[in-house]
Amino acid sequence: MKKIQTICVCGGGTMGKGIAQVVARAGFTTILFELNLRVLQLAREELEVTLQSLVDKGKLGSAEKQRITGLISYTADARNCRADLIIEAIIEDPGAKTKLFNQLAEFNEPATIFATNTSSLSITSLAEKTDDPGRVIGLHFFNPASLMKLVEVVAVPQTRPAGRNSSCGVRLPRRHDRSLCHAGTSPVVRDGGMSVTSPPAP
Ligand SMILES: NC(=O)c1ccc[n+]([C@@H]2O[C@H](COP(=O)([O-])OP(=O)(O)OC[C@H]3O[C@@H](n4cnc5c(N)ncnc54)[C@H](O)[C@@H]3O)[C@@H](O)[C@H]2O)c1
Repeated sequence: MKKIQTICVCGGGTMGKGIAQVVARAGFTTILFELNLRVLQLAREELEVTLQSLVDKGKLGSAEKQRITGLISYTADARNCRADLIIEAIIEDPGAKTKLFNQLAEFNEPATIFATNTSSLSITSLAEKTDDPGRVIGLHFFNPASLMKLVEVVAVPQTRPAGRNSSCGVRLPRRHDRSLCHAGTSPVVRDGGMSVTSPPAP
């Protein structure tokens, strides 16, 4: 199983900026890709405000804040989206999502996992429209991503074991761990109705 070190979050809106914050706090090198430069700048500013507020409350050390900040890079250029795991949180448009996956697949390694944060689209259908459906999964964060404890991991019939395992291999902050990896031997939930894995302990 490929070790996940770098995660690219696509879309810096409501969900993307929160997911980027979560994965950077978990220690991953994080790339936040957003086409809209204003939104990209807002995501950067909001992260700074959030982390500083945690420092002010004594919940985060200054050195840790620096470390997290240093792990995130911001880009509006898709060619910078080279990662072990790509999590898309762009607009809820199936054409846009599959187009993005296929674009990024052209220069990412075959082992890169492509995850969608979609709330309402069929992940099976999205996967079918990509060049390599076997590496598509759902990673469904809830809003606000930086606070919500649950993450759904969704495999579709085409998802290869590597995709399932890699999603479990993503080590998120403690509050997210159980929903990803500790809810049983397989935290994978079905496509369609998207049943939810056990809520983690606080
Ligand atoms: N908002 C929620 O409560 C919520 C909760 C869970 C899941 N989701 C899912 O998360 C996804 C994003 O939702 P959101 O509420 O964050 O949307 P949003 O509109 O706040 O953000 C989407 C961002 O994607 C950007 N974008 C559009 N096309 C892009 C592209 N090709 N490349 C890079 N960036 C692009 C847009 O500029 C925008 O900033 C959706 O699939 C949605 O179903 C949303």
